[in-house]
Amino acid sequence: MHHAVIRAESLRKVYGEGDTEVVALRDVSISTERGEVAALLGPSGSGKSTLLTALGLLNLPERGRIWLAGRPVVADGVALTDLAAVRRSMIGFVFQKANLIPFLTARENVLLALQLNDRVGRSAGARAQELLGYLGVGGRADHYPEQLSGGQQQRVAIARALANRPPLILADEPTAALDSHRGRDVMELFKRIAHEQGAAVVVVTHDHRTLDVFDTIHEMEDGVLTRAAAPPPAHAPPRTADPNPEASP
Ligand SMILES: Nc1ncnc2c1ncn2[C@@H]1O[C@H](COP(=O)(O)OP(=O)(O)O)[C@@H](O)[C@H]1O
Ligand SMILES: [Mg+2]
Repeated sequence: MHHAVIRAESLRKVYGEGDTEVVALRDVSISTERGEVAALLGPSGSGKSTLLTALGLLNLPERGRIWLAGRPVVADGVALTDLAAVRRSMIGFVFQKANLIPFLTARENVLLALQLNDRVGRSAGARAQELLGYLGVGGRADHYPEQLSGGQQQRVAIARALANRPPLILADEPTAALDSHRGRDVMELFKRIAHEQGAAVVVVTHDHRTLDVFDTIHEMEDGVLTRAAAPPPAHAPPRTADPNPEASP
């Protein structure tokens, strides 16, 4: 039996009212398990970011329920727990832009996330350095964001999102500002994190060239979510490791 890290049932989110009413989520249900990397596709305005921020407990849908690690956290627009605390400790966000704090070094940007969860001292410093190394930017730890390329900044932002080993990682078009090679690197990295750390990862993406990286593909259109039957065939070179052990005989 699998445990969903995040599960949402029958989410409904409406912006505005009357003439300007927009139904951004219509009865959306989704569930992502430990070790699963899910893509969220769909045209602009279809509700992807609204769904991601709902799953991230940043915006509450007025209808539907959300469970995080099996615990009910939201029901019909009502928070059932301290959402900010849950967010800080259990959810890592990566956005289209790295949004690093410009007057902090790469290491300090990661340290800040640890400190917000009361992780301080030498072990936190070591953890920050370890994460930057894991992301391939260990040699840039003392650089400021403006001294880093876009791809390096995004890696630091991902290190920051991973700092507290969140069981859930949400990324909204994280590779939009990167070239396709770097974009693939980032997607492969999410997969490694999911598989090595048992995290559930949900990524909004427009990049159809990297879809072979994902275990699951969801499509959104006009506030309605459908799950694609299977990932499309890979355009990339064949992989050596089986990306989806559950599908193995
Ligand atoms: N804060 C908001 N106020 C009003 N309408 C919004 C707001 N955010 C999003 N919308 C509308 O909700 C719909 C879904 O938006 P969004 O979730 O951002 O879609 P996507 O991320 O797929 O582009 C769109 O029609 C958008 O214009
Ligand atoms: Mg969006």
